[in-house]
Amino acid sequence: MNTLFIYYSHSGNGDVVAECLSEKGAEIRKVFPKKPLPKSFFWSVMTGGFLATIGHKSKLLPWETSLEGFDRIVIGSPVWNARFSCPINRLLSEIDLGGKDVAFVLYSGSGTAPKAAERIAKEYPDAKIICLKDPKKYPDELAKLQELF
Ligand SMILES: Cc1cc2nc3c(=O)[nH]c(=O)nc-3n(C[C@H](O)[C@H](O)[C@H](O)COP(=O)(O)O)c2cc1C
Repeated sequence: MNTLFIYYSHSGNGDVVAECLSEKGAEIRKVFPKKPLPKSFFWSVMTGGFLATIGHKSKLLPWETSLEGFDRIVIGSPVWNARFSCPINRLLSEIDLGGKDVAFVLYSGSGTAPKAAERIAKEYPDAKIICLKDPKKYPDELAKLQELF
């Protein structure tokens, strides 16, 4: 399968997932919000957590939205307040996943993502969901990506 991994990362965990999937042959696209989170950990969690709770869609820097030529799309998001991160909320509104094999990789401090999983089950009932606990700190978590191959 031709696989495209599209993801966002604020603090590098998503980048570790991207490296791993790239080694397995996936093409990689990273999206960047026009306005990044504050640098301070406290303010990043306060700001991002609040915005994720209200379902905010962060504006993104221009990126290639065409999914042509890929059979499988894997979306990677950090978990913010148990939900998708705001850049991924925007990304999901900008692409058409119809007819694609879809999977999500969610990375978080706890390794769980209850609200994001709820949304995926509702909007993408056939999508596979892989939840990783901070893979930059716990690289063994990357073994779970094997489920995709
Ligand atoms: C705004 C914000 C909210 C977060 N909320 C959660 C959360 O609800 N549950 C959790 O387990 N981790 C939470 N985290 C931790 C991140 O999801 C986790 O560290 C993730 O691996 C970061 O991915 P990244 O380095 O690619 O940005 C939060 C982090 C931020 C910045």
